[in-house]
Amino acid sequence: MSSSSTPPPTGYYGRHIFFCLNERKGDEDSCSKHQAQAGFDRCKSRVREAGLAGPGKVRVNKAGCLDRCAGGPVAVVYPEAVWYTFVDADDIDEIVESHLKNGEVVERLLLAPDVGR
Ligand code: FES
Repeated sequence: MSSSSTPPPTGYYGRHIFFCLNERKGDEDSCSKHQAQAGFDRCKSRVREAGLAGPGKVRVNKAGCLDRCAGGPVAVVYPEAVWYTFVDADDIDEIVESHLKNGEVVERLLLAPDVGR
């Protein structure tokens, strides 16, 4: 579960999470072929429902390819620059509750450091 915790960051947004929603045509793999849009939608609604959205709080954004496709779907949280991969809604809910809300990294969902394209 979570272990490392960080103090609340400062900035226009306290935390910013970017989801790769890149879609490649043909046989080439991309995050959009692994439920990336569903993860983004879930995160957006959970953040809003939890009252975490807005300046000084949390922003959820779409991104193009982040060049870590082999671990897709991927998302990255700033300012901590923590990279996640996820499978389902429960994973997203845990990222929202633990990291975006409380600053505690979700160790079980971390993307391995050597995963690239
Ligand atoms: S397609 Fe998502 S990181 Fe490249």
